[in-house]
Amino acid sequence: MSRQRIIIDTDPGVDDAIAILLALASPELEVLGITAVAGNVPLNATLANACKIVALSGRSVPVFAGAPGPLMGKQVYGRYAHVGAFSDDLMPATERQPQAESAVTFIVRQARQAVESGELLTLCAIGPMTNLALALVQDPLVSQGISRIVTMSCAFTALGHRVPWAEFNVYADPHAADVVFNSGIPLTVMPLDMTFQALVTRDHIQDFEQRGGAAGRAVAALLRRFDRSDIKRYGREGGPVHDATTIAWLLAPQLFSGVQSRIGVATSGPTAGYTWADFHCKQQEPPNADVMQTIDESGFLDLLSQRLAVYGGSET
Ligand code: RIB
Ligand code: CA
Repeated sequence: MSRQRIIIDTDPGVDDAIAILLALASPELEVLGITAVAGNVPLNATLANACKIVALSGRSVPVFAGAPGPLMGKQVYGRYAHVGAFSDDLMPATERQPQAESAVTFIVRQARQAVESGELLTLCAIGPMTNLALALVQDPLVSQGISRIVTMSCAFTALGHRVPWAEFNVYADPHAADVVFNSGIPLTVMPLDMTFQALVTRDHIQDFEQRGGAAGRAVAALLRRFDRSDIKRYGREGGPVHDATTIAWLLAPQLFSGVQSRIGVATSGPTAGYTWADFHCKQQEPPNADVMQTIDESGFLDLLSQRLAVYGGSET
């Protein structure tokens, strides 16, 4: 079985941390690098968090610093931006440092090498897409080195959550999303429409804590401290772990169902960041994305639990 070669572009972020730990526990994936971007919290904090997460995993995956803000327009952070970096009581301190090479240079270099070797990359975009957009603009060969972008972003049938009209990763940098959506690289999109269907409850958190070793304990601590549950919104207990669905799709695509569609984003005006999907082909434009619409919640949560247990010593 050949391992999928992936780069995770991320703004850790609690759900980013879970996605990264899931990827690093999965032998099916070869994580070439983690590229940090500003988003949930400022870049210095996403970078520090990424270093802590990789150190906690015990894997030697390089971390790179990316864009400190959007391509254009104002900077927006997540609602826990004031928290910044994960405190040591949530995730152990580490001496791990980012590489000197920038995230964009790393993405360009890896994509060019992929073209030469013929072993194309999968890019897992789970934060604002600034780094990827910069790489695509900087070097036309990049789009030839990436076989697919799996992105947690967009809201098509669901309301936004940071603002009513937009999902956060797109809202934080709509221009970058526009560059990525029009890059010609095949897209797999995990929108809020689907990620809101899979909720982690207190019982799951306890399971991660009991079976997942130090990583499981950190995940449990993060989920409890930055509670995402919203019984009014979801109608039941639990909170989403948006980003982890991208890795779960790479590992078990059968847990998802979706449709092909043309997607796009508004980049200006009062609803900048609004994303649309032409599910009924009204514009007669070819699809540019596979949009995931459903998730097998129990299958996803079982996969998450099983893989986090790897950090507690169990086999995959
Ligand atoms: O809208 C959810 C996305 O925004 C997730 O990637 C979360 O980490 C935040 O970046
Ligand atoms: Ca994220």
